[in-house]
Amino acid sequence: MEQSFGGGVNMEKRGVWSWWKNQLALAPLISKYYVPEETNNFWYSLGGVLAISLALQVVSGIILTLKYIPDATLAFGIVSDMIHSRLWGITLGFHYFNSFLIYGLVMAHMMRVFVSAAYRKEKKVLWFVGVALATLIFATYVTGESLHWDEVGFAVPWHVSEILQATHLNNIFHYNFADLLAPASATLKLVQIYAMHIAILPIMILLLAILHFYLIRMKGISLPFWKQPSGKKVSFASHIKLWFVYSAFAIGVVLFLAIFAGRDVGTAPQLLPSSPLYAVHKGPGGQGYKPTSPIGWTHGMNVLVEHLGLTPDIWGTVIAMTLMLGSLVAIPFVDREEKEPTSFKEAFDWRKRKWAFLAMALFWAVMIVGIIQNAIAGPG
Ligand code: HEM
Repeated sequence: MEQSFGGGVNMEKRGVWSWWKNQLALAPLISKYYVPEETNNFWYSLGGVLAISLALQVVSGIILTLKYIPDATLAFGIVSDMIHSRLWGITLGFHYFNSFLIYGLVMAHMMRVFVSAAYRKEKKVLWFVGVALATLIFATYVTGESLHWDEVGFAVPWHVSEILQATHLNNIFHYNFADLLAPASATLKLVQIYAMHIAILPIMILLLAILHFYLIRMKGISLPFWKQPSGKKVSFASHIKLWFVYSAFAIGVVLFLAIFAGRDVGTAPQLLPSSPLYAVHKGPGGQGYKPTSPIGWTHGMNVLVEHLGLTPDIWGTVIAMTLMLGSLVAIPFVDREEKEPTSFKEAFDWRKRKWAFLAMALFWAVMIVGIIQNAIAGPG
């Protein structure tokens, strides 16, 4: 029984993983690719943990498409049924809580890269690709929240309509409040949001993630400034193992929440006759419905600009997004240094990095002020 079909002998002798590694020619990318030993640490593993969480998000999302129908009259009922069913509830809960994890990992990874100043010199485009990825992940979160199609989810197309009205594009795109309150035309909007969430945005994220990994591979990873460089290299396989160890903890927490944390189904959207909000004249924000915390700053900034007398309040979201995106894009331009820092002193050198720190502070100030304002705001 020495011989068997195809790669059977190899598989028996060297294991399933080796067989796949040979078949897919992965050795030059993994076991024969070497990275500095110092990068095998928690902070340098965040991007990999993020990639694993994204992959699991796609898998759980694919399962959810077997049940979900983007019909404005059915979607809320389908989601409510899923939350009440054991297995669908866990799958949906996993997808939901994992989206919080992804959001947190994007922020943590971005801050690690920022403090390492790993956007300098020829890594500017790598940073911009990261900023584009963060923007696409934000858009995926927003469209996902909408698919729940409760009153909070309904706020998403409502706000899109407000932006289009403020820019006088509402009639061109047939995106008036009346279009959202009629089930047939609302279904068309929900289908567009669904297409964005399950196809267009994930495909763009995948393509940009490939470019992100390619650029890191070609340009080389930075060294952790808080460690003495040893010159030693280790196989990338050992780094990937670390990704899986940290992922096991993070995904374990997500799974725990998916199984044990109950979720409220929310309120049926105001376009449905079965909703207690049916025929109410105000939009979701005006009635006090708020987005979930990762994107809560959008509503918070709307409330803030309204207090300041700027109408329509949707300008708050537009201004906040412009400031946040603008500050991230500005960072590699305002930090003129050429080399990555090699010590705490260089990493936190206020004289050399003050504009970069101020740009990052602006990003966080907008997000934090918006989230606090969202938390304390009443209806309006
Ligand atoms: C889908 C989202 C993302 C994924 C999957 C991802 C993945 C990764 C991975 C695996 C690394 C290698 C080192 C590490 O893990 O720290 C890395 C490095 C890097 N990432 Fe990301 N990343 C994402 C988003 C971002 C964002 C939002 C930014 C910045 C705005 C960014 C900027 C960078 C830069 C500049 C590097 C090089 C770091 C260095 O040389 O030390 N990435 N990314």
